[in-house]
Amino acid sequence: MDVTQALNSRITCRAFLDTPVSAETVRAILKGATRAPSGGNLQPQHVWALAGADLKGLTDQISRRIRNGEISDGPTEYNIFPTAMKEPYLSRRWQVGADMYTALNVTRLDVEEFREQLVRNYQFFGAPVGLFFAIDRNMQQGQWSDLGMYIMAVMLLAREHGLHTAPLEAWAMFPRTVQAYLKMPSELMLFCGMALGVMDEAHRVNRWRARRAELSEFAHFRGFEPMTAAARKSEQLTACA
Ligand SMILES: Cc1cc2nc3c(=O)[nH]c(=O)nc-3n(C[C@H](O)[C@H](O)[C@H](O)COP(=O)(O)O)c2cc1C
Repeated sequence: MDVTQALNSRITCRAFLDTPVSAETVRAILKGATRAPSGGNLQPQHVWALAGADLKGLTDQISRRIRNGEISDGPTEYNIFPTAMKEPYLSRRWQVGADMYTALNVTRLDVEEFREQLVRNYQFFGAPVGLFFAIDRNMQQGQWSDLGMYIMAVMLLAREHGLHTAPLEAWAMFPRTVQAYLKMPSELMLFCGMALGVMDEAHRVNRWRARRAELSEFAHFRGFEPMTAAARKSEQLTACA
């Protein structure tokens, strides 16, 4: 599998088979992803990998609490989204939600099914492995970006192993619960969870693709036009100098 194939076949997988994933495979992915770059080589990532009873203990607890009407364990520790979301981000967010619920055949008025879909986030969509990514509280925006690159490397390597992933910021709604459950040192902050496993290819939730912006909406090119005679002359003069 080349990089383009890994990139194009990665989606947020929202239904997994219960096929187990070995500890060796998880280790190989987490170790391999350390080749991701980080400013100053700080490698700010901290990861917990859960499977079996350790995973079920946490997913059962949160599922029960959500079905009882809880949506968080208090204020989030970082702003998951900007407080005042503007365009074009607002529309993109609305669109992906609409596309996903259309694929699932759920309307937002279907409160029960909407809640069950939320619960599925906290069940890692049925994956046999749940990962948690954390970062030291004194790290800055640059290191959060580094953590993102590490996480991306994990997702691409998962594809190479025939696996899929779902990054889960939903877990940032329960940071205190996760921290206590994992006995995570208090100087660390939970960023997100991630499901890891074998995709249920037949499930309709995995059969649509999130849209992407056109290049022209975000990329700006300068200096690629054919050189003018003046620019060529200026370059020749510089080369002679
Ligand atoms: C850091 C991060 C956290 C995310 N958290 C969630 C989540 O909690 N639940 C969910 O269904 N999708 C989550 N997503 C998936 C995004 O909605 C998804 O990446 C986006 O819509 C593009 O779709 P694709 O990943 O299938 O290409 C998250 C993605 C990222 C990068």
